[in-house]
Amino acid sequence: MTRKKSLTGIKPTGTPHLGNIIGAIQPALELAKTYDTNYFIADAHALTSVTDPNELRQHTFEVAATWLALGLDPTQSTFYRQSDIAEDFELAWIFSCLTPKGLMNRAHAYKGFVDTATEAGSKDPDSQVNMGLFSYPVLMAADIILYSADVVPVGQDQKQHVEIARDIATKFNNLYGEILTVPEPLIEKEVATLPGLDHRKMSKSYNNTISLFVSDDELLKQIKKFTTDSVEPGETRDPKDVPIYTLIEAIASKEVSEHVANNLLEGKIRWGDIKELLFEQIKEQFGPAREKYSELQSNRGYVDEVLAQGAVKAQSQAVLLMDQVRKAVGLR
Ligand code: ADP
Ligand code: TRP
Repeated sequence: MTRKKSLTGIKPTGTPHLGNIIGAIQPALELAKTYDTNYFIADAHALTSVTDPNELRQHTFEVAATWLALGLDPTQSTFYRQSDIAEDFELAWIFSCLTPKGLMNRAHAYKGFVDTATEAGSKDPDSQVNMGLFSYPVLMAADIILYSADVVPVGQDQKQHVEIARDIATKFNNLYGEILTVPEPLIEKEVATLPGLDHRKMSKSYNNTISLFVSDDELLKQIKKFTTDSVEPGETRDPKDVPIYTLIEAIASKEVSEHVANNLLEGKIRWGDIKELLFEQIKEQFGPAREKYSELQSNRGYVDEVLAQGAVKAQSQAVLLMDQVRKAVGLR
């Protein structure tokens, strides 16, 4: 029996952080055990916001090296840069021609920009919106459908985009025949949203992240910045109301998290000790990944080579579908 296909992409708009790793990369790698997988770096999507070419190249390397350091096996997964596959942009154009503009008007990311501009009293609510941002979901639909993905593991925030991809695939199939696979979003409910240093969602946009692939000193420095309040001697806390405990639970061994939970419940709370434990646990759980990452840093040629080979594999999948699509719409 052929295996189903899981596909996802990460935009190289910043240095990947612990939230991306626990929330997106590790669950996607887990799926590689039971699905065929296409995992890629959405560098063309990053162009809607990153205008410095060196920054884009640097973040592309960081995202690629993060996947590899965490155990992506490029001989098992198809692992590539989105922009290496020209067919993706061709399919996006064809999809643009059957996507109602109103569907894009309702997309969350675009609406977010319009709302912010409107709240700021701007005369033109579209002033901060480029066409790439506006049609972002169309390119994302092409990213997914080009490789006939069955499931798309994403965070809650991307669910609407996958639903738009479903709408587009369904419309295409109704018009031209059952050619495209209609994808499904796969939202991992079990995976915690990790809080950042200031307790908001850990996100590169908030500058509150913990990066794994830094020196031990740097790592400890970041962890020490995690905001904690003062506690009276003997005061107790419910672990589920303690942001740093969410990190402990997501990373530490069961014994260690139980130990911390008991201390919180019994009023033996010392934030300094908890931070120290978190530091030790990150080193323990991610030791091999951190080592691998630093090897990759001094061997960027290897990462480029892996992505180039991945592009060959991805393209061999893409040309088959594009051939059918071109014929179906009458471009051949
Ligand atoms: P950021 O918020 O830093 O810009 P992205 O939006 O690029 O992160 O997210 C990439 C992937 O990582 C998504 O699948 C998202 O759901 C996941 N992710 C991001 N931040 C977190 C977090 N704090 N906890 C869990 N998962 C996260
Ligand atoms: N839009 C996704 C994000 O911001 C990244 C992405 C681009 C993606 N193309 C994709 C995710 C295709 C899944 C499938 O996180």
